[in-house]
Amino acid sequence: MFRCRVGRQGLDWGVTTPLERSIKRLVHAPVHTWFAACPPGFEAVLHTEIGAGRIVPGGVEFEGKLEAGYRANLWLRSATRIFLRLSTFKASHPADFIKHAGRIRWDVFAPAGVHPKAVSHQSRLGPDTLQHLAGDGPGIGEAMLLVRAEDDIVTLSLDTSGENLHRRGYRLATSRAPIRENLAAGILLWAGYTGCEPFLDPMCGSGTFPIEAMLIAENRAPGRYRAFAFQQWPSFREGVWRYLLKQADELVRPAPQPIFARDINGGAIHVTRDNAARAGVSPIIERMDFLKAPPPADQGLVVINPPYGKRIAGPGLDLAAYEGWRSVVLSTTERPSTRHLTFPHGGLTVTAYS
Ligand SMILES: C[S@@+](CC[C@H](N)C(=O)[O-])C[C@H]1O[C@@H](n2cnc3c(N)ncnc32)[C@H](O)[C@@H]1O
Repeated sequence: MFRCRVGRQGLDWGVTTPLERSIKRLVHAPVHTWFAACPPGFEAVLHTEIGAGRIVPGGVEFEGKLEAGYRANLWLRSATRIFLRLSTFKASHPADFIKHAGRIRWDVFAPAGVHPKAVSHQSRLGPDTLQHLAGDGPGIGEAMLLVRAEDDIVTLSLDTSGENLHRRGYRLATSRAPIRENLAAGILLWAGYTGCEPFLDPMCGSGTFPIEAMLIAENRAPGRYRAFAFQQWPSFREGVWRYLLKQADELVRPAPQPIFARDINGGAIHVTRDNAARAGVSPIIERMDFLKAPPPADQGLVVINPPYGKRIAGPGLDLAAYEGWRSVVLSTTERPSTRHLTFPHGGLTVTAYS
């Protein structure tokens, strides 16, 4: 239904067209509301990362101009996607939806049309109706539109990220049961890791934790080497984006403390080396058995993601050798701890114990 196919005509000729003026007025000039989505359980972590805004179901809402959305995509480590809030309105009948959604200038936001994903809670418009009203199935080049109805209040949010943000671009190879990059980063931030202490992942698998630790320690933007949906929008400000990338490059610093990636499995070590090289970082990668190898320093943060379901993952994991270290252990069985964070991962409910 909302499939305007207005292109970028005129923009390349230095002539101010009506479309260009609309883009300036509706996209470049205003302060927008953004929604950063995150894995369940990580809302507070993401809120701290953003340093502003408010926690809402599924993530954090914050205000800012277009550049804030670009920055969020480039810099947020624990977020899954960044959405631009397009409109919020009351709709108890299809006619309400059509009236309000029809007022949106789709040509300035999503000229190739939208691919709706509808969610409805306690609303007279159910998900199927919303899905139908917002347009039918996906098509090439369409932007993902989140259509959420809660107590008859409909919120339309346009995805700015494209591929899920956990896809940083470095992890082409994985070993068994890899953790998503934004989950790993979220756990590190939850543990208060800043790079200013030695870090060890003794069961690193594909190297996700040590690589994310390196990105934090070296102050690297996690989205530096990937593309985003907003770059295809007619409103894309290439100059602003290039400035943000240059600024990100200038902020890179050497890691203040060493970062160690260990695993007993030679294949995992190989995969970690390849992924780290693609990410442009150099943790100290060593093939070692956790049960035999001594800690690489007197103190630091050790994050352990053992194979799930094995005895080693439960209360049996012995950290006696790590006195003086802070620890985070991911487990599907309960462990003694002072803090914990529970989240879904690979069909399991996993808890990080610290
Ligand atoms: C669940 S995977 C870790 C996944 C990792 N976090 C990732 O994102 O890819 C568990 C890893 O523990 C390793 N491992 C199991 N027992 C070990 C031991 N005794 N010492 C070192 N590594 C071990 C396995 O080889 C495997 O790579």
